Amino acid sequence: MNNKDIQEIITESVFAPSGENCQPWKFAADGSDIHIFNVPEADTSLYNFEQKGSYAAHGALIENIVIVALKYGYKASVKLFPIKEEQNLVATLTLDATNSRELSLYPFIAKRCTNRKDHAHQKLSDDQKKQLIETAREAGLGELKIIDDEESLNTLGKALAVNEQIIFENKKLHDFFYEHILWKEEDQDKAGGFYIKTLEFLPHQLKGVKLFKNWLILKILNKIGKVSRIIAKENAEKYANSGALAVVVAKGNSREDFINAGRTAERVWLKATELGLSVHPCTGVIYFMERIKGGGDVGVFSQNHLETIKIAYSDIERTFGVEGKTIPMLFRIGYADEPSARSMRMKPNILFANEVK
Ligand SMILES: Cc1cc2nc3c(=O)[nH]c(=O)nc-3n(C[C@H](O)[C@H](O)[C@H](O)COP(=O)(O)O)c2cc1C
Repeated sequence: MNNKDIQEIITESVFAPSGENCQPWKFAADGSDIHIFNVPEADTSLYNFEQKGSYAAHGALIENIVIVALKYGYKASVKLFPIKEEQNLVATLTLDATNSRELSLYPFIAKRCTNRKDHAHQKLSDDQKKQLIETAREAGLGELKIIDDEESLNTLGKALAVNEQIIFENKKLHDFFYEHILWKEEDQDKAGGFYIKTLEFLPHQLKGVKLFKNWLILKILNKIGKVSRIIAKENAEKYANSGALAVVVAKGNSREDFINAGRTAERVWLKATELGLSVHPCTGVIYFMERIKGGGDVGVFSQNHLETIKIAYSDIERTFGVEGKTIPMLFRIGYADEPSARSMRMKPNILFANEVK
């Protein structure tokens, strides 16, 4: 295979989603093999317990490579963690020439994005829901469950907004959030993070976000005005007013399961994009819970917050009917106006074996 094809396949594929757009990957290309490495330093957040958030992102990236490779005339065979001792070698994809051109999802790789805008009061049709569920099932790597009745959406809205409540009450999470806001579009060339316009804050919210950057001011305002609760309430309403909320349920809780669920989530997201629907992951609570369930360090959370997360998570699993299972992805799906801005990608880091001197 020539380097140019590999370079182009990877460059198109890194438009995959990742937590805080951290893009936790780098590549080595050797003949027809693409080795994908995780970069643990790219995402040190509390959400990324044992790299599970990053593995879900890698799943989306792998799915993109499989789809894009077909466009270039190659079938990609995927081997996860091919060398047991090489923790960071997430996958090796071997590309072989093929005549098959299953390209129905390809055009949506460049169009897919996170759209955090409010949804219109319009439900998904039964046919749309069926198509999304079928898209998840086809891959055979995870299952999609969709919920859109009023009562469940209200319960889920409150549960999901526990994330925002805690961000504005916990100094470590607060500081992490602000460190990952990119205030200028061009800052996206240098680092991952949320370009501010993609966060879709309403004017009064943007004023608040700027003011609450100062932890001391926020602490005082929380005390006298319950600011974190007001923020959570607004978010709960936004989530409850979604066209639908959906989860990707994994087969198990291993790192491979997170990658496979990421592949499933990406296919669903691409299909939703094809159907003209907008998608917004809301995974804070489920990834906090991965840390708690996995026995990770939770010392940074107050006892009160730990209890709040557990209750919120149990509302989520009960409402979706997935008690005891692993949920690597949860998103809002519905109709929304075009996003105000799109996030960009850094140039992918690719080492070509035939260029190593
Ligand atoms: C595993 C995972 C979890 C995510 N969780 C959230 C989330 O809780 N809230 C959110 O706004 N975006 C979330 N995202 C979306 C990312 O922030 C988004 O993909 C990234 O900023 C790049 O933007 P794009 O999707 O528009 O390309 C998540 C993405 C992944 C892969």
